[in-house]
Amino acid sequence: MTTDTHGDALLEVDDVIVDYRRGRSTFRALKGISMKIGAGECVGLVGESGSGKSTLGKAILGLAPVTSGTIRFDGRDITHAKGAERRRLAADLQVVFQDPYGSLDPTLTVGQILAEPLTASGTGRAEARKAVAEMLDHVRLPADTVTRYPSEFSGGQRQRVAIARALVRRPRLIVCDEPVSALDLTTQAAVIDLFIDIQRETGVSYLFVSHDLGVVRRICHRVSVMYQGECVESGPNETVTRDPGHPYTRRLLLASPVADPARQAERRRSWLGLRAVSASPVP
Ligand SMILES: Nc1ncnc2c1ncn2[C@@H]1O[C@H](COP(=O)(O)OP(=O)(O)O)[C@@H](O)[C@H]1O
Ligand SMILES: [Mg+2]
Repeated sequence: MTTDTHGDALLEVDDVIVDYRRGRSTFRALKGISMKIGAGECVGLVGESGSGKSTLGKAILGLAPVTSGTIRFDGRDITHAKGAERRRLAADLQVVFQDPYGSLDPTLTVGQILAEPLTASGTGRAEARKAVAEMLDHVRLPADTVTRYPSEFSGGQRQRVAIARALVRRPRLIVCDEPVSALDLTTQAAVIDLFIDIQRETGVSYLFVSHDLGVVRRICHRVSVMYQGECVESGPNETVTRDPGHPYTRRLLLASPVADPARQAERRRSWLGLRAVSASPVP
């Protein structure tokens, strides 16, 4: 499953530093992050809360203050792209957030929500309607969804609407920031399968952010592990999520849920043992 894409990266993040201003001091949330995502590739970004995953996603989307380093999309430097250039980029670069309640306008029907990015960029109404119907089909929602409002749907269905909205302009990369973290396990599995199917069907790339190693294991080709604003390990899915080299990744692995209760108990035992030996701070 692993794709070697180093020659023709769609997204290239090179030594990116992000500093947030906190009153009179600054907080360095990213301490020089580098990564690449190829066309049709899913790269996972995993790490505990506060490790800087969302900040990297935001930096790519132009929503975080990049102090230094470079972000290239399809060879173009987009690190400090703003205004019209950013709006043009939105055709190729989209996002799905964890919380579809916050990201879907409750006063609009699903049809209006999905058509808006198209009509705002000059697509005619009839063509937009056709594209919206196609997108609903893509995310396995019934056609009559167009006339309904976000509040009428379950969390999983709402996330399907958010995915459809991200897809409607046929982007080349979607930043997915904890897109299944608010869902129960069954719905989570169905939405992950949807992400995989869409990638197969469209060839879109994902930066897939999750605090759960079990989730990135199911979907990503390669995985990068974040710890306190740094990337401590990255490599093929199979290596990072099953046989990690870094003690921090091993701790994440032991903390991710497994279905089998006996294995769970075994994991818990070794988790406690490992915590005892790794009392010294993880580098
Ligand atoms: N706008 C902001 N201003 C100041 N600090 C921030 C801001 N956004 C995030 N941070 C801090 O940056 C660190 C990384 O946050 P974030 O990227 O959201 O982590 P994650 O997504 O891995 O949970 C955290 O310590 C967080 O408190
Ligand atoms: Mg986050």
